Amino acid sequence: MLAGRKILLIITGGIAAFKAIDLIRMIKRAGGDVQPILTASASEFVTPLTVGALAGNQAQSALFDLTRESEIGHIELVRDADLIVVAPATANFIAKMANGLADDLASTAILARDKHVIVAPAMNVKMYEAEPTQRNLKMLVEDGMQIVGPDEGEMACGEFGPGRLSEPETIFAAIEDYFHTHSNDLPLKGKRVLITSGATREPLDPVRFLTNASSGKQGTAIAKTLRAAGAEVEFVTGAAEVPPPDGVNITEVGSAQDMYDAVHEVLPCDVAIFCAAVSDWRPKSVGAEKIKKKGDGEAPSLEMVLNPDILKSVAALPAGERPELVIGFAAETENVIEHARAKFERKGCDWLLANDVSANTGTFGGDNNSIVFFDEQTHQEWGPMSKSEVGHKLVSKIASHLKISD
Ligand code: C5P
Repeated sequence: MLAGRKILLIITGGIAAFKAIDLIRMIKRAGGDVQPILTASASEFVTPLTVGALAGNQAQSALFDLTRESEIGHIELVRDADLIVVAPATANFIAKMANGLADDLASTAILARDKHVIVAPAMNVKMYEAEPTQRNLKMLVEDGMQIVGPDEGEMACGEFGPGRLSEPETIFAAIEDYFHTHSNDLPLKGKRVLITSGATREPLDPVRFLTNASSGKQGTAIAKTLRAAGAEVEFVTGAAEVPPPDGVNITEVGSAQDMYDAVHEVLPCDVAIFCAAVSDWRPKSVGAEKIKKKGDGEAPSLEMVLNPDILKSVAALPAGERPELVIGFAAETENVIEHARAKFERKGCDWLLANDVSANTGTFGGDNNSIVFFDEQTHQEWGPMSKSEVGHKLVSKIASHLKISD
């Protein structure tokens, strides 16, 4: 959540400059304001027009442009910002920052800075490993700057090793993290939020289980945003493809019954979000030993019993114990709106986010989602958008709901 935050984004020249475009989009979608500065060589890779149009603020590059700027323009740009981000940062620009050179708008802004600086280097692997670059990076750290990356991998020049610009998501996470730890007006500060995520696993015997294709990406994205908004996050997770977010309290569970127990253990909280894909049933009995193949090749039959409905049980808690907001998810493969509205009524939750997970949508395991958001009165369509954007939209909605009811 970056609402009202001003970020001075310095883009320096390099093939990775195009990734700055994605970073701008992410900051904007999270409600942040971006003032771009391009060095002369950055303008060879991305046009000031594109960058300015996406940022919604004219991209600046000239130090002495009296038609556009007053003499102290570069100082104002820095004073106006809450945070400075240099992405990508070339070896040359890193050297300039380390040595206090000020021969263009970008380097002058850095020298005149009174704000935290996040630097995301990007260069050829040999240039990155070169002693002067390593020396310069060390100096930047000593000067209080924060270095993000670089990543290791194949480079545009064909060589392999460290030097690739970190992914925009990683740089964005560092920005969110900075505001999270340096802010006292976070919208969910003091709120305790429980979120379930991932897939449950229902054991059949010691080596087999029934599960589903949930990747845990949507729950993780929401948990990250909750944390960035200042909430104390209880993250109750089943199996997932992605690691849990930093800075949250993690409870790892296996079966639906384990998840039920963990959720009721973690309560009370202000908001509970049920994003996990929970198995509705489990095998009636769990073999103590691996179920053996029968001699004649006959398949065993499985008897199933119902699992407790965690969401429903929390939504039905008496006032005082029930979270102020209980939010469910509904994975549907057909008639999304009709089925989700019926589920909303059945579950007793306050909000329900329905998504179409039919085979061709790529929602399970993918990075994007299309949501239909239900409350008591209406429904509205969100997306398609990234799972991270769904997180931002949901967390903003939670924040305004809690603000109104406070
Ligand atoms: O009934 P269905 O599984 O489609 O409902 C989905 C919603 O209910 C999700 O929010 C899921 O996390 C929650 N759920 C639950 N406990 C179950 C089954 C689903 O909390 N046993």
